Amino acid sequence: MLIGPSGAGKSTFAARHFASTEVLSSDALRAMVADDPNDQAATDAAFELLHTALGLRLARRRLTVVDATNVERWARAGLLAIARRHHRPATAIAFALPVAVCLERNAARLDRRLPPPAIRRQHRLMTASLATLAEEGLESVWRLDDATAVAGARLERVPGQRSV
Ligand code: CTP
Ligand code: MG
Repeated sequence: MLIGPSGAGKSTFAARHFASTEVLSSDALRAMVADDPNDQAATDAAFELLHTALGLRLARRRLTVVDATNVERWARAGLLAIARRHHRPATAIAFALPVAVCLERNAARLDRRLPPPAIRRQHRLMTASLATLAEEGLESVWRLDDATAVAGARLERVPGQRSV
């Protein structure tokens, strides 16, 4: 699971490191059900689809990346429950960039923008989460603190990765 406020660069990172079929994006699924990635009224339906697709992929032992903010513990717990049900390990990559960077990127975005207070709130939730993330049942937690760390991240796929 990717963790980070809007504008942190989650989707950019996912596109760089993973095949498009490996990525389940809450925005793409909102668009799938409502023709609009911003339609907040489509959030429940989008996550229903996301959780279903995640379970179906994990049943096939397919590496799956959840591209959503995941800044709330209950959101992460839903994903972890699905991973556990399928005996698959779960890893988090947290985009702990300074809030100023997220706000700056948000302001420069052409696709869609969130009101700055929403980004500040997501950033606060993420920061609060970081302290206890290691206790949530994830196999590993990777924390990227700035753009240099994000740019330098190297992902290694381990064939036959052990299941938990
Ligand atoms: N961006 C950037 N440099 C990076 C990463 C992202 O300039 N290293 C820019 C992207 O081009 C985009 C904006 O920052 O215009 C937000 O990046 P995105 O990957 O879309 O952020 P997400 O975390 O996916 O945001 P959201 O939760 O809203 O989908
Ligand atoms: Mg995104």
